[in-house]
Amino acid sequence: MTATLEWNKIMKLADLPKQIGKEVHLKGKSIALFHLSNGDVRAIANSCPHQNGPLAEGIVSGEFVFCPLHDWKISLVTGEVQKPDNGCVEVYETQIKDDYIYIMV
Ligand code: FES
Repeated sequence: MTATLEWNKIMKLADLPKQIGKEVHLKGKSIALFHLSNGDVRAIANSCPHQNGPLAEGIVSGEFVFCPLHDWKISLVTGEVQKPDNGCVEVYETQIKDDYIYIMV
């Protein structure tokens, strides 16, 4: 059986400061939500592929987050870990509607 994906209303865009990650719990998943300096909103799994570091607590730079534990650099667009490290985190679709952030889960 496949789970049905749907848009989940999360919070007002204005309440999510830019470049500060926020942990969101949805359907048993921990998701790291980010408001980038270019205005984009991105959501990825809140668990670093290295040793499960909480990515919502990482430092955001451009379209990347640096894991707070050992500084792996992870794309907030593709979820890919940047070289020289390897791995990938799940990326969730986001949208802004009527000033609210929605995540597809
Ligand atoms: S747990 Fe993320 S870099 Fe080690």
